[in-house]
Amino acid sequence: MTYKYFLTGVMAVTLLGMTTALNAGTLKTSNTIRLEDDANSVVVNRKMQMEVQGYSSRVLYAIYTGKLDLREDVVYLANQMQEATKRFERAFRQNTTGEKTRTKTRALEKIWQDWDGFMVAVKDYEQATARVAELANAGDIDGALEANMAVLNKCAGCHDVYRDPQR
Ligand code: HEC
Repeated sequence: MTYKYFLTGVMAVTLLGMTTALNAGTLKTSNTIRLEDDANSVVVNRKMQMEVQGYSSRVLYAIYTGKLDLREDVVYLANQMQEATKRFERAFRQNTTGEKTRTKTRALEKIWQDWDGFMVAVKDYEQATARVAELANAGDIDGALEANMAVLNKCAGCHDVYRDPQR
C-alpha cells in the first residue's frame, strides 16, 4: 500500500465521520448548515475542528517516525495546526456538555467551571504549535518534527483533565 492510498483512506474516514456527525446533528431539518445556531451545533463544529488538529499532528508524527514520506507537507501541516488553535475559544463557548446536546460530547463540565485553567491549557498548546510553525517556516523541518512531540504532549495533557475518558 502506498502512502498516497493510505492518506486517501485517512481522508475518506475523516469525511465519513464528518458526514455522520452532520447528519446526526444539524442537517435534519434544513439544507443550510448553521453551525452557530445552538449548543448542538457548537459541539458538532468542535468535534470536526478537533479532527483537523488531530490530523495535522498525527501526520507530522508519522513523518517524524518515518512511516510517511511527506516532508514537503510539513510547512503546510505545521501552519494548518497553528491556525486551528485560534478556534479553541470559539469551539468551547457556551456550557456545551453531554446532557445539554443531542450529539454526544466528551467535554467535561470542568472546562466551564475552570475556564481560566482551560485557557492556560489552550495557551500552552498554542505556544507549542507556534514553535512547530516557526521552525517549519524557517526551513528547519527536522526541528519542526521534533517540536511536534511537545504538541502531542499538550494534546494528552488537556484531554487528561478536560475530556471524559469514556467514549
Ligand atoms: C485545551 C484542551 C485540548 C487540547 C490542547 C487538545 N484537545 Fe482534543 N479535545 C479536547 C476536548 C475537551 C475534547 C472533547 C470534545 C467533545 O467531545 O465535545 C477533545 C476531542 C478530541 C478528539 C475527538 C473528536 C471527536 O470527533 O469526538 C480528537 C481526535 C482530539 N481531541 C485530538 C486532539 C489532538 C491530536 C490534539 C493535539 C494536537 C488535541 N486534541 C488538543 C480538548 C483538547
